[in-house]
Amino acid sequence: MEKIINEAIQGSTLTVEKNNGKRKLFIESYGCQMNFSDSEIVASILAKEGFDTTHLLEEADLVLVNTCSIREKAELTVRKRLEKYNSVKKINPGMKIGVLGCMAERLKSKFLEEEKMVDLVVGPDAYKDLPNLIEEIDAGRNAVNVILSKDETYGDISPVRLQSNGVSAFVSITRGCDNMCTFCVVPFTRGRERSRDPQSILSEIEDLVAKGFKEITLLGQNVDSFLWYGGGLKKDFEKASDFQKATAVNFAKLLDMVAQKFQSTRLRFTTSNPQDMTIDVIKVMAKHDNICKYIHLPIQSGSNRILKAMNRLHTREEYFTLIDTIKEYIPDCAISQDIITGFPTETEEDHQDTLSLMDYVKYDYGFMFAYSERPGTLAERKLDDDIPLEVKKRRLAEIIDKQRAHSEYRHRSFIGKTVEVLIEKESKKSDRHWSGRTTQNTVVVFPKEHYQIGDFVMVRIDECTSATLLGKASPSALKGETFTCTLKA
Ligand code: SAH
Ligand code: F3S
Repeated sequence: MEKIINEAIQGSTLTVEKNNGKRKLFIESYGCQMNFSDSEIVASILAKEGFDTTHLLEEADLVLVNTCSIREKAELTVRKRLEKYNSVKKINPGMKIGVLGCMAERLKSKFLEEEKMVDLVVGPDAYKDLPNLIEEIDAGRNAVNVILSKDETYGDISPVRLQSNGVSAFVSITRGCDNMCTFCVVPFTRGRERSRDPQSILSEIEDLVAKGFKEITLLGQNVDSFLWYGGGLKKDFEKASDFQKATAVNFAKLLDMVAQKFQSTRLRFTTSNPQDMTIDVIKVMAKHDNICKYIHLPIQSGSNRILKAMNRLHTREEYFTLIDTIKEYIPDCAISQDIITGFPTETEEDHQDTLSLMDYVKYDYGFMFAYSERPGTLAERKLDDDIPLEVKKRRLAEIIDKQRAHSEYRHRSFIGKTVEVLIEKESKKSDRHWSGRTTQNTVVVFPKEHYQIGDFVMVRIDECTSATLLGKASPSALKGETFTCTLKA
C-alpha cells in the first residue's frame, strides 16, 4: 500500500532557538526494538544538521517521540508524553515537538489538526526528509511526511548508538511486513516488506565490532523472510531476472555469512514468524557456536480455528513439528512466545488449546497480551471485539501464570551448570554484582570480582528466580582463560 501525503500545513509561528549553532535534540522511543533502532538513525541524520542529543527534556530545542500503535495502551502512553512535553513547552516556548513512527503513519496530518500538540509528523520511511521538514518548522510552518517507501532501508546511514551499553547493538535487516495478520497494524504503519543490502549489513557490523561491541541482534518484523535480490519489495521477487534469482540471498545465507565473518561476536535475531522459518536457518544456527541458541517464535494462539482467523498461515500441529525440529538440531535452544488472548470469537475451548500448547512447548519466556482492536485492520473491519474485558483479563492471568511456572521450570534446569555469560551492565539491585545474559538469553546476576563489562565469563548457577539466574564466576572464568588452562594441562 503506497500512501503519498507530503504537505506543509500553516501553523505555529514560533522559531527554534539556536545555541551557538548547535541545537539540542531530546528523543524518546516506545514500542518494538525497531523503533529504538530507528531513533538511532534519526539521531544520526539530525547530527549532520547540527543537533546534539540531550537527556534533559527542559533544555531541548526539538523533542521527538518515536511511537508505537500496536495496542491502544501504547498509543495512550504516547499521548500522556505529548501532554508532558507541551507542559514543558509553556516554559520553553521555542521548543518544537515531533511525532515519529507508527502513530505518525496511522494518524498522519490528523495529528496536527485534531491534537494541536505537535509541529512535526514523520512516518517510518521518511526520516531522510527530516532536514527539509526541520526547515519547514524553522520557518514557522508545521510539517508532515508519511510516505511509505518501496526501497528505503536506511542501509547507507550509520546509526548513532543512543544509550548504548557498548556491548550489544541492533542492526536492522528488513523493514515492513507482508504477512497481514488480521489483528496487526504493522503492515499499515510500516508498509511492504523490503530487505537491506547484505554488504551494508556486513559493514555496519564490522564497524560495531571495531568499536568493541560483542553481541549483534539482526532485526526485522519478520527476519526469516529476508530476501535480497538487488533491491525492491519482497512481493516483486517473482518479476526479478534469472540472474537476480540465482544470486539472491535469503535469511539462512545471510546468517551464515555474518556468523562466518564475525566468529567472536555473538549473534541473535528477532522476530521469527513460524510460517517463514526454514530448516536451513535451524541448520545454520546449529552449525555456528556464535549464533545464540534462542528463538523468539510467536504463536499468538494454540487453536487452529483462531490461528486461521488471525491469518497465521500454519497450524498448531505444524508449529509442534517446527519446535521438535529445532530441539532435534539444537537441544538446548530456548524458545519464547507472543500470545494474544481474547481474539474475537475465542471460546473457552480455544483458550484451553492455547494452554495445552504452552504445556507442550514449555517456553523459556513469553510476552502475553489481551487483544486490542486496531483501527483499519481486517479483524476490526470484519469481526466484533466480542470477548468481555473481564474474560480477556482472566484468560490472560491464566496464561501468565502458566508461563511463570514454565520459566521457573526452564531456569531450574540450569542450577548446578556452568554457563557462558556476556556481561552487559551492573545489576539493578546491587552495585556489587554484574548482570549479563546466557546464549539462551536468560539474565544471570553474579558478584563482580575483577571482571568487566563486555567480558565473556563462565558462571556456575546456584539459584534462580522466575526471571533471573544467580551464580558465581567459576575459577579462571574468562572464556579465553579457560581455554588456555585446558591447553596447558
Ligand atoms: N513481527 C513483529 C510483531 C510485532 S507485534 C515483531 O517483530 O515483533 C508484537 C506482538 O504484539 C505480536 O506478536 C502480537 O503478539 C502482539 N500484538 C500485535 N497486535 C496486537 C493487537 N492488536 N492486540 C494485542 N496484541 C497484539
Ligand atoms: Fe504483524 Fe504478523 Fe507482521 S504480527 S508484524 S503482520 S508477522
